[in-house]
Amino acid sequence: MNGKPVILVSRRLPDAVEARLARDCTPRLNPEDTPYSADALVAAAQGADALLVTPTDRMDARLIDALPDSIQAIATFSVGYEHVDLDAARRRGIIITNTPGVLTEATADITLLLMLGAARRASEGERLMREGAWTGWTPTQLLGQHLGGRRLGIIGMGRIGQAVAHRARALGMEVHYHNRRRLDPAEEAGATFHPTADGLLAVADVLSLHCPAGPDTLHFLNAERISRLPQGAIVINTARGAVVDDTALIAALRSGRVWAAGLDVYEGEPAVHPNYRTLPNTFLLPHLGSATVETRNAMGFRALDNLDAVFAGREPPDRVA
Ligand code: DGY
Repeated sequence: MNGKPVILVSRRLPDAVEARLARDCTPRLNPEDTPYSADALVAAAQGADALLVTPTDRMDARLIDALPDSIQAIATFSVGYEHVDLDAARRRGIIITNTPGVLTEATADITLLLMLGAARRASEGERLMREGAWTGWTPTQLLGQHLGGRRLGIIGMGRIGQAVAHRARALGMEVHYHNRRRLDPAEEAGATFHPTADGLLAVADVLSLHCPAGPDTLHFLNAERISRLPQGAIVINTARGAVVDDTALIAALRSGRVWAAGLDVYEGEPAVHPNYRTLPNTFLLPHLGSATVETRNAMGFRALDNLDAVFAGREPPDRVA
């Protein structure tokens, strides 16, 4: 490669990340932050050496097949990479990297925010305040649920699941988990392993989803699995919207089978099933799991570390394909 690598950056990134891009590369930035269509992205990628994309870019086989031969790598600004067709990238010899580790704490924090917000009816309370409808304290107003002593069921005990467990213990919750492999005792830190998802669901007063999206987990939380939860359970999702069958969860929230849900991610986002917005027992955030300045900077730097490695002929640390 002659000169600095040319990187097409699909969305506006934090200032510190764009400054490093400007220092080390020839970036093609997106200051208006308008999402690219597939055709526009392919056109903009002509002559570039790499792409830096985000979960809002659908990197399917058609798009990857149409990329110019100059593209050596695609770094996604995310830990999740279900939006990238890895097989198509492998066929083209394009390296794919993600950003694990750096968003663990931020995502675990927002999981706790959702748990507390759902359990303590925060969105109903907030609405009361914003609408000027609060008439004062009463002994029975907006009574929520105490999380201490409740059983937290974690599906997917990777980095984020473990960080959530750590925080939940501080609330006095009992931690249970289901994972592909049982963790070693130090990682488990007293959590109870359930070899089957059904076994975990049966004890999960609060269910928190931390598994990747993909064909195996599509609509994992469906009507049948919801029926295995304890009556009045709380459901939290900071993983991916597609892991939940919205119709089933909405029906359970309506009937009271599920007491409340705290959601940060949605199938087909930014579209959100309209019933989530009208139900009183949902606490909804717009995919803010990793949205802190520190974390988004770290994600950008991690993506650039991976691209630097590719351009230096080294194995990128976070290669997923
Ligand atoms: C990720 O990294 O996959 C997150 O969803 C972005 O916050």
